[in-house]
Amino acid sequence: STSLVRDRIVESGVIAVLRGVDEDDVVPVARAIHDAGVDALEVTADGTRAIEKIAAIDRELEGTEAVVGAGTVLDATTARAAIDAGAQFVVSPHTSCEVIETCNRQRVLAAPGVLTPTEAVTAMEAGADVLKLFPAGTVGPNHISAIRGPLGDIDVIPTGGVDADNVGEYLEAGAVAVGAGSALVDYDAIDDGDMDRVRETAAAFVEAVTD
Ligand code: 3PG
Repeated sequence: STSLVRDRIVESGVIAVLRGVDEDDVVPVARAIHDAGVDALEVTADGTRAIEKIAAIDRELEGTEAVVGAGTVLDATTARAAIDAGAQFVVSPHTSCEVIETCNRQRVLAAPGVLTPTEAVTAMEAGADVLKLFPAGTVGPNHISAIRGPLGDIDVIPTGGVDADNVGEYLEAGAVAVGAGSALVDYDAIDDGDMDRVRETAAAFVEAVTD
């Protein structure tokens, strides 16, 4: 259910954003990041064969606590394809009511992107389950405490510019989890085929989350 997926993301504390990882690498990378303690993995739908990648990771991590989702989902057609491939959550950089409605109909967690209070309320009214605050780095942690004042107990997941040094401040400000790409997914190590290093970089991020 969507609340179970939401709880898994919150327990993970971080969603690892896999953007542009080759299909050949995506399963070992997902395995290494999961081994590091990350239980939420997002594959962005903007690259090639994203749907196949989601399905492959889903198979690889079946039977674990991990939840696998799709990111950068810009329209309802992509949302539906990702859900059919096994995506348990759908993340967008923006608020699309059509994407949110597709998720709601399929009982899959919808995480649209918002930045302003108007966007946050619009997304919640459309049926969002959690809110991706994007791009978080342009507003910083204080933005979360500021909008949670008037808007109350909304689940906010800041993404974009979150790293091991600032993640504590985002969580302190009221984020229920964060999204992290370049600071967690070690693309240089992936290029080198060094999955131990991929795991170590992700583990260092997880340590910063749990500190
Ligand atoms: C992305 O656009 O890939 C995500 O928002 C992650 O951004 P980041 O690399 O700044 O963490």
